[in-house]
Amino acid sequence: MSAPPSGSAGRRPVLVVDLGAQYSRLIARRVRQAGVFSEIVPHTASAAQVREMRPLGIILSGGPQSVYSPDAYRIDPGLLEAGVPVLGVCYGHQLLARMLGGEVERTGEAEYGRAELRATGPSLLLEGLPERQTVWMSHADAVTAVPDGFVCPASTDGSPAAVMEDAERGLFGVQFHPEVAHTEHGMAMFENFLRRACRAEAVWGSESIIASAVRDIRRRVGSERVICGLSGGVDSAVAAALVHRAVGENLTCVFVDHGLLRKGESEGVERVFGGLFDVDLVRADAGRRFLEALAGVSDPERKRKIIGELFVRTFEEAVAEMKPRPRFLAQGTLYPDVIESGAGAAATIKTHHNVGGLPDDLQFGLVEPLRDLFKDEVRAVGEDLGLPEEIVWRQPFPGPGLAVRIIGEVTAERVEILREADAVVREELAAAGLNREIWQSFAVLPAVKTVGVQGDGRTYAYPLVVRAVTSEDAMTADFARIPYEVLERISRRVMNEVPQINRVAYDISSKPPATIEWE
Ligand code: XMP
Repeated sequence: MSAPPSGSAGRRPVLVVDLGAQYSRLIARRVRQAGVFSEIVPHTASAAQVREMRPLGIILSGGPQSVYSPDAYRIDPGLLEAGVPVLGVCYGHQLLARMLGGEVERTGEAEYGRAELRATGPSLLLEGLPERQTVWMSHADAVTAVPDGFVCPASTDGSPAAVMEDAERGLFGVQFHPEVAHTEHGMAMFENFLRRACRAEAVWGSESIIASAVRDIRRRVGSERVICGLSGGVDSAVAAALVHRAVGENLTCVFVDHGLLRKGESEGVERVFGGLFDVDLVRADAGRRFLEALAGVSDPERKRKIIGELFVRTFEEAVAEMKPRPRFLAQGTLYPDVIESGAGAAATIKTHHNVGGLPDDLQFGLVEPLRDLFKDEVRAVGEDLGLPEEIVWRQPFPGPGLAVRIIGEVTAERVEILREADAVVREELAAAGLNREIWQSFAVLPAVKTVGVQGDGRTYAYPLVVRAVTSEDAMTADFARIPYEVLERISRRVMNEVPQINRVAYDISSKPPATIEWE
């Protein structure tokens, strides 16, 4: 287990023990939404390590295994004697039952999806909730006999012990998934566990996050100079705004403008950081240099490599000129990046290829004020710090920018065509109020031309592909069901306003098998 992140000092967490799936993250977020700090630890965490983190409670997550499979994840039995309440969810519920002498069996009554939970007796977890409610199930095994000392205050058709409790020892289990939105009163159950069993108060929120981040940053950097690279994205912007709140004029922001941002974005960064926040802002205007390096290059991975390397070089050059030499580098690393880089037991799926990823040999002390935060928390903090909506709610955008949305060679002319067409797509989707339900939306410029007709003449120009997807985490995605009228407006405007385009297509592929980006 990795050491607790530096930013968490003084905050007692509820620990979510990751039993091998994605569920743990959602549970950790629900706990935080209830105003309690949470951290994910791997199932291999020892009781001693857990005790050292001084948790207020422990939640055992779900997982894909059967407790009887030989390689099923186990936990240190000492976790159940750490002196804090424990809640098992799904697999965690079964594991808890089995560890304490109950029985878990494959009953042949697998439940997947919606089930009706019926209360049969008093319960701490279900206090204040209706007698019948919808819960979301996903299990083949079920607890058929609860351990000594436990009661079963609620059941479903397939799970006689859908809830089990030993309130005296502070041990609880639920067969269903309270963390998913389909479980009607799941959030209320977490609240009951947190407030009534763990005695955890609601203290975690933007205000306390900002206050403790400011304190931590000041303690770490003292009166030294800090630099922060801005990319135009949410994370680097919120990190910079937090550091600015903490150290004021001792922060210098470096904005490497590679010339591949969307229309208006580079001006937005200047307006917000140079203007609104009055930050010491160094802008490296490197658009020409990037285009020269990309001349003649069509291969997507080569584009990425060229842009990534040149980005670092440009950043280093800008920093090399600073006097006195800055000692600290602020980065917008988020909690999911920390988990994915190996701290969690959940299978690591995605490699991070952000162009802002700077090499270790830059020789700075790192300041990572968002290391403990989920994206929704980062957005809330950004709003509280006064960052404008266009930055706080900006969609994910690839580090190499428009270069990976221009198929084939990236030239000044093609960047301009895509930038104009992309701006129309953005404007129309925003005008239709679709921005927040869409994960990412953009235009792609293919490397072919097609025949069209305009006035009396034949045209031979580029088609434009519009891509808009819904997604939870970019791992999977589906094309957004945009109303035809909106697509029609996009199509008409693009063809009227961008003369180099004579055709507009909408990409209706899901991921998998397609990806979100075209390159
Ligand atoms: P794909 O296209 O793989 O994209 O479905 C998944 C998510 O990753 C983003 N993406 C990138 N982000 N540098 C980045 O910083 C890249 O080279 C890159 N390529 C894809 C993509 O926009 C989507 O959010």
